[in-house]
Order: sequence, then structure tokens, then C-alpha cells
Amino acid sequence: MNILGISAFYHDSAACLVRDGEIVAAAQEERFTRKKHDAAFPKKAVEYCLQEADIRTEDLDYVGFYDKPFAKFERILETYLSIAPKGLGQFLSAMPIWLKEKIWTRSNIRKKLEYYGPVLFSEHHESHAASAFYPSPFKEAAILTMDGVGEWATTSLAVGRGNKIELIKELRFPHSLGLLYSAFTYYLGFKVNSGEYKVMGLAPYGKPEYKKIILDHLIDLKEDGSFRMNQEYFDYLGGRTMTNSRFENLFGGPVRKSETSLTQKEMNIAASLQEVTEEIMLRMSRYVRSLTGMKNLCLAGGVALNCVGNGKILKEKIFDELWIQPAAGDAGGALGVAMCIWHQVLENKRQVKKEDAMKGAYLGPCFTDESIRGFLEGRGVSYRQLTNDELTRTVASHVKEGKVVGWFQGRMEFGPRALGGRSIIGDARSPKMQLVMNLKIKYRESFRPFAPSVLGEKASDWFDINSMSPYMLLVAAVREDKRVDILEEQKKLFGIDLLNIPRSQIPAITHVDYSARIQTVHKETNSRYYDLIKEFDKETGCPVIINTSFNVRGEPIVCRLEEAYLCFMRTEMDTLVLENFILDKADQKPLDEDTDWRDKFELD
Ligand SMILES: [Fe+2]
Repeated sequence: MNILGISAFYHDSAACLVRDGEIVAAAQEERFTRKKHDAAFPKKAVEYCLQEADIRTEDLDYVGFYDKPFAKFERILETYLSIAPKGLGQFLSAMPIWLKEKIWTRSNIRKKLEYYGPVLFSEHHESHAASAFYPSPFKEAAILTMDGVGEWATTSLAVGRGNKIELIKELRFPHSLGLLYSAFTYYLGFKVNSGEYKVMGLAPYGKPEYKKIILDHLIDLKEDGSFRMNQEYFDYLGGRTMTNSRFENLFGGPVRKSETSLTQKEMNIAASLQEVTEEIMLRMSRYVRSLTGMKNLCLAGGVALNCVGNGKILKEKIFDELWIQPAAGDAGGALGVAMCIWHQVLENKRQVKKEDAMKGAYLGPCFTDESIRGFLEGRGVSYRQLTNDELTRTVASHVKEGKVVGWFQGRMEFGPRALGGRSIIGDARSPKMQLVMNLKIKYRESFRPFAPSVLGEKASDWFDINSMSPYMLLVAAVREDKRVDILEEQKKLFGIDLLNIPRSQIPAITHVDYSARIQTVHKETNSRYYDLIKEFDKETGCPVIINTSFNVRGEPIVCRLEEAYLCFMRTEMDTLVLENFILDKADQKPLDEDTDWRDKFELD
């Protein structure tokens, strides 16, 4: 039984193929079209999923879509009517695409896929909940989903048992933690639906001086974590912006222009928002625990990408264990709806895997040695082919020497994080690596530290964490015995200067508050990456390396050989590893490009 799940038409379109309950393939459309957060119908992602499963559309038994377009349309219509005539411009500009495409999703899918079987729809939060629970390692669990908005729901509390998910409660539009976070993302001069993680990265530099203002004026927060947002300060109901002039007055200034320098004020606002967000996440977690009595919690929805908040839930020990869907955003809805059809609609028994059913999130395309050799020969590239052992030793020594390595191995990850399939790696012990990688490789703002990959069994030797974090969705502090003292006068430094003071034995991945966004690496899901870090540990006594996504700023993570090679050649990366093939930059002829590739990617 083949089920294809699709998410599309909002942001992060994706496709996922589930065969007899097993996740065979999943990928985001942006990786193929090279358009970040591509929201178009995921034609190429579907093609890839079918190819991976070695089937054609006529072999599909069901196609599922991750939300209900009519209910969403109704929400847009009702919202407009509640504020009319304000919002007419926004309403009119949204209509053509709705009338032409979105409302006809079923016939659209049939036409685009040339598929004539059943097309089923689940609700947006049902898809998130299914993506959080069904692949989790728990037989039963509480489920919490939080995002911007789907049809009406913005948060849902549910319980999963066996193959059934039961919705308990939901919070509805316009009261939304995702939209609150996005409103501040907008106000702080970052892109909505993309720059939220920058706000999270900025927060540790600030003091939560605006927390009281947020709680007094913007939201009315209840003990159970539910809240109401005061719409007098926001403009997302019918305007073209997230916040309005009252919001600007409240925070003492206009919206920050993007790419201008960041001041302490922005950092304090980010810190305040982050604290409020954590407070809401904690209260909701406690509430869903008390309602369900469950010992474990599953999370999904865009807010579940707030790994600092997730780390707090874990640290507070509200639940015994936490499992977070790696594709927590809307891309994961494709997986959710397919799993929902298999379990909830068709009532098939659920197989619970000891780790989980995500295969390490390595659900995308991979390349054979023959195809890689063909590619390299075709381009006249200078390369060496190594055995597994040679490769592990060579790359570990490159990292140790301070080289920056493009690491392209196995199947591409599903979800926004690179997890050692499409990663750029470096030495976490190096005090200058943070700056080098930000400015020479990623070409991005330098206030953001990098994330570590650490051997699973050694994570608690280096970080205050006792559980695994295979999907880089938990933040924990670097252990005190790995920290180094910094001078009193260094503490007075500001922003990036503060980040540049080494504060631990692994400074490149240690944020100014000693936090780190951890990926634990496991032999079972990525043995080659595991072996590499193990070898690095053997040589240096440090089981931690830097892992950042294989792309430049604004570019989707690389998917195919061509993109990896171009990213390697265009940046100051030293080494490229494509499976068992290794390329040294020093041996390469320069690229002859007639345009500036930097114009290709819009800044995120
Ligand atoms: Fe969502």
C-alpha cells in the first residue's frame, strides 16, 4: 500500500511516501527547485519520492493533503468580514490564487499527478500531531503542536495511543504563539517564516527588560498556557505588516531596517520574547501533562523548532521523555497526513520502533559511486577515491588542521537541519572557526554561533543533557568543567565581540550564555559520520565538531552533486567529500563564471 503525502501552497512544500506504514522517502521542494521555502506544488519532490519507491502514480493507493483548503478559505473570509472594510487590499490580492488554485486542491493534485485515485485531507494540526506521534518511539504520549496558523487552530493538545490520536483542546486564530514570534521577527527586521531562529539566536545577548511590557500589553497569559493576543498592536488580520504603529510606540521606535546593525535594544527585545515563549511552552506542557497523565511528550509545528524552549521543557522534567519531529514545520505535514491515512483512516496497527521511525531523518536522495565518478570526470575535477578507513582518517585530520570540510554523505535530511548528510564541518575547539565559517563560507551575520555534533554516548560528558538529541532540536549548556574563565572586563564587551571571547574548550559552538544546539550522532543511523567524529575524538580527545548546513546564506541546503561542488568552489571551503571521493581546493582549477553567484540567492 503506497500513500503519498503532500504539503503545499503556504511555505515549505514537501512530499513524503509511506509504504505499508514505513516512511520510504520525504523531501522538500526547495531542495530541487533551489528556491528557499518554495511553496509551489511539490512536483519535483513527488517525482523523487516515486522514484525512490520505484513506483509510478498509478501505483499510489492514496494521496493525502496536509490541510483543509475550504476551512482555511473560510477563516480568511470570516477574518476579512470581521474587520471590513479594512483589509480589502490584502483580501483582494489573496483571492486570485485562492480561486485559481488553492480551493481546487483535489482536482489540482489529480491533474498535476495524472492520478485518479482517492485524495484525502487532514486538518493542519492533525497532520502536525500525526508527524509528531506516529514516528515517535512511544506507544502512548501527550502531543503538543504549536505554529502560526492552519485552518483555525494555532495550538493543539492531543493524546496518542497505539494507532489513534485524540484531539483534546485547541487554541484558535488570531491567538497564536507562532504569529507572536513572527510579529517580533518582523519588528526586529528579519524575514517572517524564516528569520525566527535568528531572533532565538539573538536572545542570549539580551536582558528580558521588555517581558513585562509584552505580558501587560500584548498577551493575556493564563495559568494553563492559553492566551489571548491584543489585536490593537498587530496588523496581521488584514494589513500587509505584522505589527502596527501602536506596537512601534510601545517599543519606542520603528521596525528595524533589515541588514542594519543590531543594538542592545533588539537583543533585549529578543530576550524578552524568548522568555515569554518559553513560559508559554512550559505552561502548556504542564497542562497537557496534567490533562493526559502521559509520561512522554511529542512536539511538532513551527514553534517546536524553538530548541531553546524544547530544552527548557526537558530540563524542567515535566515529562520523562520528549520526542520532536525533525521536520516540525509545514514540510512535516506531508509526512503527517500520510501517516494519518495509514493509521487513523485505514486503522492499521502501529509498529513502534525503539529509536523512532524517522531513519535519522535521512529520507532524501543519495548518489552512487559511479554517478559521482561520472560527475567528477565530466567536469574535469581533480579528486581522489579513498577506502572507508582512509576517508575517516583523512577527513578527521583535515578538521584537526583547521580546514573547513563540505561533507556530502548518504541520503539528504528531511527537515530544516543538516545532520551530517549535507553538512559543512569544522573544528569546534578552534577559537577563530566561528568567524571564519560565518564570513568566508556562509556569508551570513556573525552573531550566530554554530551547532555541535557530538557522539551520542559522550554528549553528557560535554553538555548538561541526559537524553539524546539526534535532530538538533534541543539546546543545553556546555558543562561547567569544559568552560574557561573570562575576565571581568571581557564580560562588558558587546555582541559579536562578546561571542569571540573563548568561553569553553569548544568555543566555536558555545553561545554567550554557554548554550549549544546539540546534535547527538549515532552509529545506527549514520555510521560514517559517527566513525569520523570517533576518529576525531581519538586524535584530539574531543568528541565534538561543528556542524552547519551545506549552503550559503539564502540558498537551500545542497541536494545534488552539482550544488555541493559549486558551493565548495564558490566559497573558501578547503575540502569537499562526496561519499568516498575527496577534493582538495588547492588542486582545483578556478570556476569560470560570468555572473556573480551571490545575486542568485535572496538573503534570508
Ligand atoms: Fe503549521
